[in-house]
Amino acid sequence: MIKIKKPSPRLLGQRLLDWYDANARELPWRATSDETADPYHVWLSEIMLQQTTVPTVIPYFANFVARWPSVHELAKCDLDDVLHAWQGLGYYARARNLHKCAGVVSRELGGVFPDTEAGLLCLPGIGPYTAAAIVAIAFGGSSVPVDGNIERVISRLHALDKPVTSIKVEVADLARKMLPAKRPGDFAQAMMDLGATICRPKSADCQNCPWQLGCRSGFSGDWVKYPVKPPKKIKPVRNGFAFWLVREDGAVYLRRRPEKGLLGSMTEVPSTEWREQEWEVDDALKVAPSGSSWRVLPGEITHTFTHFHLRLGVVRGKAIRGGPNDGFWSLPDQFGEHALPTLMKKIVRHALESTSRNIVNFNPKQ
Ligand code: ADE
Repeated sequence: MIKIKKPSPRLLGQRLLDWYDANARELPWRATSDETADPYHVWLSEIMLQQTTVPTVIPYFANFVARWPSVHELAKCDLDDVLHAWQGLGYYARARNLHKCAGVVSRELGGVFPDTEAGLLCLPGIGPYTAAAIVAIAFGGSSVPVDGNIERVISRLHALDKPVTSIKVEVADLARKMLPAKRPGDFAQAMMDLGATICRPKSADCQNCPWQLGCRSGFSGDWVKYPVKPPKKIKPVRNGFAFWLVREDGAVYLRRRPEKGLLGSMTEVPSTEWREQEWEVDDALKVAPSGSSWRVLPGEITHTFTHFHLRLGVVRGKAIRGGPNDGFWSLPDQFGEHALPTLMKKIVRHALESTSRNIVNFNPKQ
């Protein structure tokens, strides 16, 4: 039997770069081999790509750079405009931090992004992964970013059998051993592309993988086992009621959520607290904005956040004189002007659809 010598980490790194030279994806924030990367573009794309896929990000990135061509323009614009343009990318804290970070870079650093991980980590919204990615891609520093994609390709390459949550440092060390002397940014992006096009979460095209000769899980089909998932946490269910308060002219009462916390600064349909204990309608109405003729709309809305599932009933009421004044009124056909997150859009759809149907009493325990 012919024994094939396992390639050294450096050779694997070089094979990956060769593969990248022939197969790199063309992405709007990516510099070609004769261009220098723009740190503003790299930073913006990395923030957008946190927990969002490349195809989703592409049009958002194009829109942002067209509207705000440099960090100075982004810093000067209204937070509301950023939140609005961010709609659909999720996790609005990222958009608020993006705007805050642009402010710091523009006003305190003269528009120049720091070129070290330590410097970048001081900025809002930049964690260890993003800092390492910016240093490598925008500045050519020898940093190794580790995200879910890179954890997957490295844990398959080495058949790492500990839960993925506990192997971040090991993955970074193993990746660093492969880092070629030059082009750390391309090396990082090559691992990302390998994870996106060859070593995908649910399929692996091992025949075309530049690491096929060094991989400990590929050809045996064992790649499916990696990365090893941590035990699943059960998410609690929280309950609440949303208050759909309508004025005579059809305008609906909306509010802006507090800056800090879940869906911070976004526009909301007011609601009760979201809690594990179910609400009786009468108790919910005690915390409703002032209104009259409250009725429960049939059905409920469900929505899942990172840490919990939410079930919301909706009650509809009529505005009264001297009603609430900590929010604003908007006609439904003007809702597009507000930064309404997905959950709020579900409430709007539900309320508008129910309006034309019968309104019945609703038992939240059913
Ligand atoms: N995912 C995160 N950052 C990325 C990048 N720069 N290119 C492609 N995919 C990515």
